[in-house]
Amino acid sequence: MIVLGIETSCDETAAAVIEEDRVRSSIISSQEIHTKFGGVVPELASRAHVRLIVPIVERALKEAGITLQEVDGLAVTHGPGLVGALLVGLNFVKGIVTATGKPFVGVNHIEGHIYGTILSQPGVEFPIIFLIVSGGHTQLVLMEDHLSYHIIGQTRDDAVGEAFDKGAKLLGLGYPGGPMIDKLAQSGNPDFVKFPRAMLKKAPFDFSYSGLKTALLVYLKSISEEEKKAHLNDICASYQKAAVEVLVRKTLLAVKEFGAKRVALAGGVAANSLLRSWLKEACEKEGLELYIPELKYCTDNAAMIARAGLEYLKRGHHSPLTLNAYPALKLKPLNT
Ligand code: KG4
Ligand code: ZN
Repeated sequence: MIVLGIETSCDETAAAVIEEDRVRSSIISSQEIHTKFGGVVPELASRAHVRLIVPIVERALKEAGITLQEVDGLAVTHGPGLVGALLVGLNFVKGIVTATGKPFVGVNHIEGHIYGTILSQPGVEFPIIFLIVSGGHTQLVLMEDHLSYHIIGQTRDDAVGEAFDKGAKLLGLGYPGGPMIDKLAQSGNPDFVKFPRAMLKKAPFDFSYSGLKTALLVYLKSISEEEKKAHLNDICASYQKAAVEVLVRKTLLAVKEFGAKRVALAGGVAANSLLRSWLKEACEKEGLELYIPELKYCTDNAAMIARAGLEYLKRGHHSPLTLNAYPALKLKPLNT
């Protein structure tokens, strides 16, 4: 089955063609315009999606070496995300569906991230404890089969990606902050500053990241600008270690609680080098199988949306043309 996937939930305009587990093309245009504002400006994102969607989809089809007629079905992100941005992709797909009569399915963006990892690791086995870490989400999900999601914990305030982005902003680094902190942390001392780890003993699978950002703010106020410059790498390494340690510890706790043998990582923060290596080491030590997404499928892309869509389409599950975009769409199992 050949699926055309489209993703426009935030600031990436992306289209991809997959044939079962094979990615025939994956085109991503990251909107540079937001960098100077230090975060995504929703209206600018929608306008950029409108400008980019046609050329990006044409390129995806061309690189895959197929025409629209050869596509068996379409998959499009319909939430969560910026409503104006989501509507561009969704309405574009509805236009194609109306013109061609092809089936389509709306995909949850978080589910897309999950399938970005499954795409990187064909033949995964269940059950899996999924750690989903992106700019907007931090969740632990038990997956007992394809399209089956049981949320066992999530953040009560900021997502871990948000903690990286807000921390980077306080440090005067650019947006998105995660890759910058990751890079600077490589040559820093991770034990230079002792930042708090919110373990939330009464809710062991939930997360809280707003305190970490505040702790950084308080720390930065206590040192001079010279000290900050001289120890920028050490501060980044310490901040990153605090953020990542909580993720690893809570994931292992969930594995024990649910008796799982497999762990998987998904979302933009899955690109973080410390998180990848720490989780790898921990899983090796505990004898657990670990599924890690290829770097190109960590941050937003459309191949992951197409791959999730494939699971629905091959089960004959299609969305109606009345499908709407939902900015706060929750991750739900099929048929609920
Ligand atoms: O999944 P994603 O592309 O978009 C959302 O769905 O939110 O994730 C973007 C997030 C941003 O917060 C970004 O700072 C973070 O992923 N990120 C990283 C790294 N690469 C991207 N965070 C830490 N280390 C990285 N190497
Ligand atoms: Zn994402």
